[in-house]
Amino acid sequence: MNFNIVSLPGDGIGPEVSAAVPVILRKIGELFGHEFQLNEHLIGGAAIDSCGQALPSETLQACKNADAVFLAAIGGPKWDDGDIRPEQGLLKLRSELEVFANIRPLTVYETLKPFSPLKPEILEGTDFIVVRELTGGIYFGKKNREANFASDECRYSINEVQRIARVGFELAKQRNRKLTSVDKANVLESSKLWREVVTRIGEQEYPEVELHHQLVDSCAMKLIQTPSEFDVVLTENMFGDILSDEASVLAGSMGLLASSSVGSRYGLFEPIHGSAPDIAGQGIANPYATILSIAMMLRWLKLSTEADSLEQAVSASIENGVLTVDLKPYSQVTTQQVIQTVADNLTKIVGSIDSSRSARNQPLVKPVEQSPQVACAGEA
Ligand SMILES: NC(=O)c1ccc[n+]([C@@H]2O[C@H](COP(=O)([O-])OP(=O)(O)OC[C@H]3O[C@@H](n4cnc5c(N)ncnc54)[C@H](O)[C@@H]3O)[C@@H](O)[C@H]2O)c1
Repeated sequence: MNFNIVSLPGDGIGPEVSAAVPVILRKIGELFGHEFQLNEHLIGGAAIDSCGQALPSETLQACKNADAVFLAAIGGPKWDDGDIRPEQGLLKLRSELEVFANIRPLTVYETLKPFSPLKPEILEGTDFIVVRELTGGIYFGKKNREANFASDECRYSINEVQRIARVGFELAKQRNRKLTSVDKANVLESSKLWREVVTRIGEQEYPEVELHHQLVDSCAMKLIQTPSEFDVVLTENMFGDILSDEASVLAGSMGLLASSSVGSRYGLFEPIHGSAPDIAGQGIANPYATILSIAMMLRWLKLSTEADSLEQAVSASIENGVLTVDLKPYSQVTTQQVIQTVADNLTKIVGSIDSSRSARNQPLVKPVEQSPQVACAGEA
């Protein structure tokens, strides 16, 4: 099959980890007989530097024309004080693509338990998914700044809560039928609405799913105290942002957590981490979150066998101790070495390349243009 994929490397470690995209897609293409046409575009600080816009219209259009979009990370201190911030590009992209459901699975690998600050017995059985609402809430509400005050409005409509609640309930139905909805209904009006709507959807449409409501502050505590009690965690935009970063500590590193952001039409796949300016340019960033995001992309493209194989290749690399320094103190393993090891493991897992297919095919991934060719005609 043929697929048109857009990759947005962004800023900081973004270009380093997104080097995995052509390598992994080429390998998947070779092994399974697909053709991935891959194009890079600018977003975030890189786009501001190049055209003064965080999301150039060409980037947005390319994303809308693609079968799937990968985004690595945006932002950094260089753009912190500017009028246009890199984050505006990402928020606008999510909003334009209407990818309202951000799905963040948390897997704790056996080998990595010693690297977690939590005791192994607390981590035992931990396996949950955070479902974060992505296009509403305080990040998208009205902002105001005057001489002596600033405000950010948190708004949710019934429709926005209903559609994300259904995503959470559907996932819970496929798993252990347990949904924890996280809010701050003892204080916030938007959370009261959230709780009412989630309760109603649960009673009317998903009676087989056990629904719990949890205040966000106590949820933050329980994620560390008793993480194995969670199955699907459903929450609004900002709470989900914070809780999933907290949850990454259970796994061992920010560099391990992948995510998919989906709506009715588009799919955007991103590691949960940011641009990590503190380690950018050193070649030591952990690319597993990126590779696992590619696996989520493959599954969304209905390439389940390919996605399973890629996840197995990642597990094999981790179990073999191919770990960057965020996971293993004093490790000298580079980003590139991890990427190559996963690609090699894929070959071993899937088997040798079908000789007739390799003879027939031209390179299965068209080379990515090294410096993205983006004209800056106007902001998207
Ligand atoms: N989706 C995104 O693009 C996104 C998300 C969060 C933050 N940001 C931006 O990233 C910048 C830095 O933010 P931050 O420091 O709060 O968060 P961050 O996720 O970039 O980094 C937090 C810590 O985790 C480490 N880390 C993150 N990813 C890693 C990886 N793949 N391998 C090894 N270590 C990794 C970093 O070195 C740092 O110590 C800011 O400009 C922020 O706005 C972007």
